Amino acid sequence: MKSPISLQKRLGLGLTLGMTLLWLGATVGAWLVVQHELNEAFDSALEETAQRILPLAVLEISNREAPRTAQHVATLKMHKEYLTYLVRDAEGQILMQSHDANPKIFNEHPSEGFSTTQKYRLYGASALRNTLFIEIAEPLGHRREAAREALLALLLPLLALIPISLLGTWLFVRLSLRSVLAYRRAVEARGVGDLSPISVARLPAEIDPLADAVNRLLERLRKALEAERSFTANSAHELRTPLAATLAQIQRLRQEAPQGPLRTRAAKIEDSLRELARLSEKLMQLAKAEGGGLLSEAPQDLIPLLAHGVDEWNRSSGQRIRLQLPTEASVYCAIDPDAFGILLRNLIENALKYGAADQPVEVSLTEQALLRVVNGGPVVPAPVLQRLTERFVRGSSEASGTGLGLAIAKTIAQGVKARMTLASPATGRADGFEVTVQFLCVPSA
Ligand SMILES: Nc1ncnc2c1ncn2[C@@H]1O[C@H](COP(=O)(O)OP(=O)(O)OP(=O)(O)O)[C@@H](O)[C@H]1O
Ligand SMILES: [Mg+2]
Repeated sequence: MKSPISLQKRLGLGLTLGMTLLWLGATVGAWLVVQHELNEAFDSALEETAQRILPLAVLEISNREAPRTAQHVATLKMHKEYLTYLVRDAEGQILMQSHDANPKIFNEHPSEGFSTTQKYRLYGASALRNTLFIEIAEPLGHRREAAREALLALLLPLLALIPISLLGTWLFVRLSLRSVLAYRRAVEARGVGDLSPISVARLPAEIDPLADAVNRLLERLRKALEAERSFTANSAHELRTPLAATLAQIQRLRQEAPQGPLRTRAAKIEDSLRELARLSEKLMQLAKAEGGGLLSEAPQDLIPLLAHGVDEWNRSSGQRIRLQLPTEASVYCAIDPDAFGILLRNLIENALKYGAADQPVEVSLTEQALLRVVNGGPVVPAPVLQRLTERFVRGSSEASGTGLGLAIAKTIAQGVKARMTLASPATGRADGFEVTVQFLCVPSA
C-alpha cells in the first residue's frame, strides 16, 4: 500500500516552490529593465563626452602649424584611461588620440553614431562638414560587471527567502491543522464499543462536514447494534416464560407417564427444553455484555461480590470451591456488580463443569485486582485454547453447553478495559486450566 502523502509536506513544498519560481520570474524581468536603463545611461555619458571633446579637438587641430600630423594628447598625470578616443580625418588618418588609445579597437573608417564590437562600445561624431571625426571607446566589461552585480543583488535575498518560506509555511500549516490532529487523536483514543459522537472544537470548514458524516455514521451504527442487542435480549426474555411453562408441563407429564418409552421420550424432551432455556439465558447475558453500562459510576469493592458469588456456588456444588482473598484490603473497581456476577458465574460454571471432579476449584483475587479461576483436568491443546473465547466454539468435552460462556466473559472484560487470558496447563502446574482477569483499578487499604 502506498504511504499517505502528508498535507503539511505537500503544501510546504508546493507553496515554497511556487513562490520561488514567481520570484525568479520577477527577478529576471527586473534585471532586464535595469540592464536596459544602465545601457542608456552609459550611452548618454559616452555621447556627452564625445560632444565635449570634439570642439576642443577642432580648435587645437586648426591652430597647429602642421595640422596633418598625429599628436598624442599629453596627460598631466599618468593614469589608466577608462574612455579612449581618436580624432581622424575623413580618410581615416589619425590627427589626435588620447594617450592610452589603441587604434586597432576602432572602426577602420570613422563613422557616426553608436556601434558595438566584441569588447567595446563606440560612439562617433563629426565636425567641419564631415572632415573631422571623433570616435570614443568604452570597454564593455564595465557595463557587464554592473549588470552582474544588479542581478546578484536581486537574487541574493532569494537564498534566504527559500528556507524562511519553507519553515513559515510548515509552521503555519501545522498550526492550521492542529484541530485535525486533535480529531485524529480523539478517534484513536476511542475504546472498543464506544460509538458516541466525536466532538472536536473548531475543525476547518473542509473537514467539518466529514466529521459530521462520521458522527452520523456512528449514530446509525450504534442504533443498528442496539436494535440487534435489544432484539436478542427481548427474544430471550420473551422465551423465558413459555419455556418455563412448557418445562413444568413436561415434568408433570414425565411423572404421570407409566414406566416405558413414553416416560423416556418425555425425559428427552425435558432435557432439550433445559438446553433451550440455558441458551436463552446465555443469549441474554451476551446481550447485556455487549450493551453499555458495564462500568459503574461508583467503584465497587470486588471482595464481597466475589465472596457472595462463590458462596452461592459452594452451596450448590458441595463446597468444591476454595476462595483466596487479600487480607484486610478492599479492591475497588468501577465495574457494574451485575456484569461482574455474570463474568464470575461463567468462569466458575466452566471450572466446575470441565475441571477434574476430584480436585477443588481455586478462585483468588489479589490486591492488584487480578482474578484467577483454576481447575484441574487434562491440558487443553494450544490451538483449541486460542479459539475458545469465540462465540459458539467449544472444546472436546462431552458435557453439554452452548459455547457462549467464555465469549460472554471476554466481552465483559473488554467492556471494563480488563485483560482476560486463558492458560492450560495452569501456572505452576502440569495440568489443569486457568483463567485470569486483570482489572484496571486502584487497590485501596
Ligand atoms: N475451566 C475449564 N476447564 C477446561 N476446559 C474449559 C474450561 N472452561 C472452558 N473450557 C472449554 O472451553 C469451551 C468453551 O467454553 P464456554 O464457556 O465458552 O462454552 P460452554 O461452557 O461449552 O458453553 P456455555 O455457553 O454453556 O458456557 C468449553 O466447551 C470447554 O471445552
Ligand atoms: Mg461455559
